[in-house]
Amino acid sequence: MSERIDKILAHEGFGSRKDIKKLLRNYEVLLNGTRIFDSATQIDPEKDTIIVDGEEINLHQNIYLMMNKIMHTVSSNKDGEHQTVFDLLDDDMKTPYLQDKLHIIGRLDMDTEGFLIFTTDGNLTHKLISPKTHVGKTYFCILEHSETEEHKKQIEKQFFDGIHIAAEDNEPEADCQSGAIVKWLDDAAASKYIQNSSWEGSANTYALLTIYEGKYHQVKRMFAAVDNKIVFLKRIAIGKTTLDPSLAPGEYRELSDEEIDNLMAE
Ligand code: URA
Repeated sequence: MSERIDKILAHEGFGSRKDIKKLLRNYEVLLNGTRIFDSATQIDPEKDTIIVDGEEINLHQNIYLMMNKIMHTVSSNKDGEHQTVFDLLDDDMKTPYLQDKLHIIGRLDMDTEGFLIFTTDGNLTHKLISPKTHVGKTYFCILEHSETEEHKKQIEKQFFDGIHIAAEDNEPEADCQSGAIVKWLDDAAASKYIQNSSWEGSANTYALLTIYEGKYHQVKRMFAAVDNKIVFLKRIAIGKTTLDPSLAPGEYRELSDEEIDNLMAE
């Protein structure tokens, strides 16, 4: 379906329709390689290419990426000291246009690995972080101390009921939401999550934890509240969508249409 260029460019953040009239007069705006001046020019976003002052505008659909975050990277787009997850993206994802639009959905700690979504789609972001939509995030955990069968049962109950976590840094103590599910893994089941990783636990130190909120250091604080400690943490699923096991830490790929539909339907 065609749309006027001034509408498209206004939507892409180039200002009001009046601003776009000026832009067309003062800057080179190319439609399929030919300069245009008329702000009523019709554009077919499926077929046409627009270049504004040398920069191609992404007229196509939103961008959706799945990254397996590597340890020691910061979940933000700027950090004076450390490498950020945005530094791991290829140059085509670092255009000035995308720098404003592409964001991550939910952060992971510097020492956490795993599933991170990058998108330009604010609707998806809202959906996945809104407490109302109740989307589960599942973490693979290696604990410092082995748990006994009896303590495992207690932890399951405490987490499910909503455990109280202590204050940390500037975050106050809090009650976690009820409904968190912990599942204990044996060595064989755990091995698929520690491929490509130098981490190793021992029997009774592996768990999968699903939580429906995202408090600061939540998983670490939950295990601290039951006298254990996380030594390795990796997010392996967001809702029903799981991290692609073929992505090595630091790698990313586009989400498939099916994965996007599933995330939208959460
Ligand atoms: N919980 C944590 O403690 N850290 C993370 O990175 C994510 C969840």
